[in-house]
Amino acid sequence: MERRDATPPHACEVCGLGTVVERISRSTHLVAESPAMQAALRRAHDFAESDAPVVVLGESGTGKEVVARALHASSPRSAGPFVPVNVAALPAELLESELFGHVRGAFTGATADRAGLLEAADGGTLFLDEIAEMPLPLQAKLLRALEDGELRRVGDTRPFAVDVRFVCATHRDLEREVAAGRFREDLYYRLEVLVLRLPPLRERREDILPLARRLLAAERRPAGGLGADAARLLLAYRWPGNVRELGNVMRHAAALAHGREILPEHLPESVRADAGVPRGGGGGELRTLAEVEREHVLLVLERCGGSQTEAARVLGIGRNTLWRKLRALGRDDPRRP
Ligand SMILES: Nc1ncnc2c1ncn2[C@@H]1O[C@H](COP(=O)(O)OP(=O)(O)O)[C@@H](O)[C@H]1O
Ligand SMILES: [Mg+2]
Repeated sequence: MERRDATPPHACEVCGLGTVVERISRSTHLVAESPAMQAALRRAHDFAESDAPVVVLGESGTGKEVVARALHASSPRSAGPFVPVNVAALPAELLESELFGHVRGAFTGATADRAGLLEAADGGTLFLDEIAEMPLPLQAKLLRALEDGELRRVGDTRPFAVDVRFVCATHRDLEREVAAGRFREDLYYRLEVLVLRLPPLRERREDILPLARRLLAAERRPAGGLGADAARLLLAYRWPGNVRELGNVMRHAAALAHGREILPEHLPESVRADAGVPRGGGGGELRTLAEVEREHVLLVLERCGGSQTEAARVLGIGRNTLWRKLRALGRDDPRRP
């Protein structure tokens, strides 16, 4: 499709105001200051038009569900339902009838006909969270529903049609699950057409403080601001639990703080302990400047997920300077172990 020259790339084509990313983050309260998250939201918007299944990949707590909701909200199905199902939270025996529904007498306890969540999502989007945890036999049944748009309630022989857009998510490496025989290869190929990868929070540091402020404000406690020292600690932490963990940390801090600002002592020990406390700087041997620089450069590079552009920005040096330093360390290609 031809793009009109007047609208900058990804500007809203309806109102012409602001970019798609601004519009999505305004309407969903998603924080997306980092280039990586903005790229993910633009991709979600591009995927929204289609009815093809989407897989959202990313560590736990990176925002897979909120991005799936944003995708649904910018899709032509936005007036229809968004039905989230956590595959990992339901026992295998229940999952099938929850998803597909059942007819009366299909199993002990099935005293009446019951519609499943797939039917509930008719005309909208079904969000299958933790799809990799789905038992193999059910994966086969799901594949059929995806291919034919048809399903059968448990215990029923008559198939019927549903109009559902599938968005699936997992924190696992699906390719590895296929190789290990835990995920059907045919389902994998069916799903991996539109893939949305959400980077971990430590690879999008620009999002940390805006998220922290947003999450803090949501607590509605006296401490409305982030002190500079606390902010530095938040930036330095690795966030293994990503945005979900940041939410918990801000809730904890808001509950402890009595003044107007969050201070380091309001943050959990784990966050404080991780913060660039000079290692080996105590009594023992003193290190050379080159050794300290080497360790710091590699630490920053690692925290930036191997991105030299990002690492150079964090270090406050040019990309070429960083490249020269890495070459001197024998690390001109940081992706090579
Ligand atoms: N970019 C974001 N902006 C605002 N809140 C976010 C963002 N990403 C995640 N969250 C919040 O963090 C928590 C975890 O997000 P969720 O989508 O459930 O993660 P996942 O599904 O990847 O485990 C939720 O409370 C969600 O609202
Ligand atoms: Mg989730």
